[in-house]
Formats: sequence, structure tokens, C-alpha cells
Amino acid sequence: MEILKWVSSVQVVQQIGTWESGTRIYLLKLFVWVANRQNPINDSSGTLMINSTGHLVLSQKSGVVWSANPARPIQTPILQLRDSGNLVVRDDKDENSENYVWQSFDYPCDTLLPGMKLGWDFKTGLQRRLVSWKSSDDPSPGDLTWEIDINNYPESVMFRGSEKYYRGGPWNGLRFSGAPELKPNPLFKFEFVFNEDEVYYTYNLLNNSEKSRIVVNQTNGYTRDRYAWNSVTQSWDVFATVPRDKCDKYALCGAYGNCIIGESPVCQCLEGFKPKGNLMDRSHGCIRNKPFNCQDKDSSGFLKFRSLKLPETAYSWVNESLNLKECKAKCWSNCSCTAYANSNIRGGGSG
Ligand SMILES: *[C@@H]1O[C@H](CO)[C@@H](O)[C@H](O)[C@H]1NC(C)=O
Ligand SMILES: *[C@@H]1O[C@H](CO)[C@@H](O)[C@H](O)[C@H]1NC(C)=O
Ligand SMILES: *[C@@H]1O[C@H](CO)[C@@H](O)[C@H](O)[C@H]1NC(C)=O
Ligand SMILES: *[C@@H]1O[C@H](CO)[C@@H](O)[C@H](O)[C@H]1NC(C)=O
Repeated sequence: MEILKWVSSVQVVQQIGTWESGTRIYLLKLFVWVANRQNPINDSSGTLMINSTGHLVLSQKSGVVWSANPARPIQTPILQLRDSGNLVVRDDKDENSENYVWQSFDYPCDTLLPGMKLGWDFKTGLQRRLVSWKSSDDPSPGDLTWEIDINNYPESVMFRGSEKYYRGGPWNGLRFSGAPELKPNPLFKFEFVFNEDEVYYTYNLLNNSEKSRIVVNQTNGYTRDRYAWNSVTQSWDVFATVPRDKCDKYALCGAYGNCIIGESPVCQCLEGFKPKGNLMDRSHGCIRNKPFNCQDKDSSGFLKFRSLKLPETAYSWVNESLNLKECKAKCWSNCSCTAYANSNIRGGGSG
């Protein structure tokens, strides 16, 4: 742990020794969490204190720059940096060493480490989301965020400022519907939990000798990158990046549009629809070839579309106990319903 006066780079390299062979040994520092993102310590008087009631106080000569309060009073508070990277306050007398009264994992910065949660705790109202650094040498909150949107049914989204930038889609039981690359893999296992108490995405390494992290980075052209440590080259490899391509841009093609990389233009209309705007400017979406008359059930019906990201859940309705047939019937009888799908594709589909 280090109290930073000001951070000069995301990755600081420092020579810490030399082998007899002459090979130099370097220490690579990577900042995964910063307590005082907004208030830099501007002299060398920084101190971090834990007092007898378990409050953390980071201060400099001119006053407190950051503090943290324990969730409940404890007797013998200790501050500990766990191997996971979690900085925790707990009661030394508590036999359960994972019973924290405060933890840095609850207040993510720009990095999601294994075991951290991205989402919401509904009981306390705590939101855990990632916010990028302003630049490589300024950890204050930047423009790019990654969070779980709980507007109706949870969905993974990224914002650039106040503008929605990327939509991962709702969880479909296996992955976020718009993230086909999120598959079982040898590096990590992932999990999405959604119940009355909380909603979160998390991942854990399958082999603790491996290392991986997810970072939101705005100096990299606004991306969210998953890195994996390459022990052969001793460097971080990019494992996956979002947005993946032009089609990942939020609402690029507008309503009833379908973005297909490799098509020209990339914005196409769904079957039965035609471009609303002119030929090249397809961002206005598409309109029906024939006006839709909901009352006329003889001349209308549903078409099946495959390999599409599910529409935005803010405008959908979910009942996890319905099957697809019941859902179709419900949609058919309601003129404000225009499409239906399984919310969970596991085991033949449900919801
Ligand atoms: C510990 O620090 C907190 C925050 O500054 C303060 O409210 C609390 O009274 C302190 N406790 C003691 C025992 O000094
Ligand atoms: C875990 O990773 C280490 C280092 O890459 C490797 O030596 C070891 O065999 C792996 N263990 C398992 C169970 O795969
Ligand atoms: C962000 O991207 C820049 C440019 O690729 C890179 O130099 C920097 O290390 C990245 N930051 C993090 C925290 O990975
Ligand atoms: C039809 O669907 C809309 C949108 O989900 C909903 O608000 C409305 O209550 C539904 N109407 C009926 C009769 O179920």
C-alpha cells in the first residue's frame, strides 16, 4: 500500500535489484484503487490512520482529504490489505476473517478485480460501478463508466458522460445478450446474481496463479479492456475489448435497424421494414413497409429473428414464470407489445 502524493503514471517501473547474471529485476506498479481520487495530497505530509472506532482517515497538514466509516461499531479494529487487493477494516476478535465493516471493493475506481461486484446492493442502496481515470496521470473521475442499469430489468451499460455509449444487453442466463464472446474459458468463471437483495456481475480466476483485471480507460479511445497476465512475456495481454466494432455503438442504426458488420452500409432494416431516412443516413432507423393495424389479427403475425441483441429492457416487461408460448399469447393480446423473447435461454428457455 502506498500513500500517493500525486500519481505520475498508471504503471510505474522501478529497478529494485540485479541478479548475479546481470539481469535487472523490476517492480511493476499498477494502481487498481485510489482512495482520494478527487483530493490529491499536495505536500509530503500524508498520513493514513485508523482510530479506535475503526474509522479510516487520510489527511495532510491542511486537513482531511478522505475518510471512511465502518458499517457498525467494532471493538478491535484492524486495517488489512488482502491478497485479493481488497483493503478492509475488520474486527480482530471476529473469528470470521471475512466479516468486513468496510472494504475498498465496495467503492471501485476504474478496475474490476476478481471477486469484486459490479452492480447494486438493494438493501443499502450502494451502487458499485467503474469510472475511468481522467488521464493516465490523473486518477480523478473521468467520463467513461460501466455499470448495471436497473431501469426495469438489469442490463450492462457504459456511459460516456451522460450519454449512453454501449449496451451489453440483459443477462440471458448464460451471458449478457450482446456479449457473445463471454463464454466458459480457461482463465475465469463469471456469474450474474439478481435477487431481492442485490444484482451484480462478478468473476473469479480458475487458477489463482493467473492474473486478470478489467479496466475502463478513456485515454485508450474509450474502451473497457480485460487484461490477462502473460507469465512468459511478463506483460499484460488484452484478452477482450468493448466496444468491439462500429456496431457496438449505442443505437447506431436507430429503431428497427439491424447493424451487420461486413454489410454496406452496416445499418440494415429488419425484414418488413424500410429505411426511414435517405439511403446512406440510416441512423434514423426504419419504418414498417405496411402500416401495422393491431386489430387486424388476420394480416399480422410474428417473424423470428436470430442472433440479435435483445432490445433495451427499459421498454420491456419480464415475468420469469411464463414460457415462450404464454408470452406470445400475452404479447398478441396487447397492442402496445410488438415483440417477445425468452429472458433466460437456459434449459430450453423461460421467462
Ligand atoms: C474516529 O474518527 C472519526 C472520523 O474522523 C470520528 O468521528 C470518531 O469520533 C473518531 N473516534 C475516536 C474514538 O476518536
Ligand atoms: C495454474 O497455473 C500455473 C502457472 O501458470 C501452472 O503451473 C499450474 O499448473 C496451473 N494449475 C492448474 C490446476 O491448472
Ligand atoms: C489506458 O490506455 C493507454 C493507451 O493504450 C495505456 O497506456 C494505459 O496503460 C491504459 N490504462 C490502464 C489503467 O490500463
Ligand atoms: C400492455 O403492455 C403494456 C406495456 O408493457 C402495459 O403497460 C399494459 O398494462 C398492458 N396492457 C394489458 C391490458 O395487459
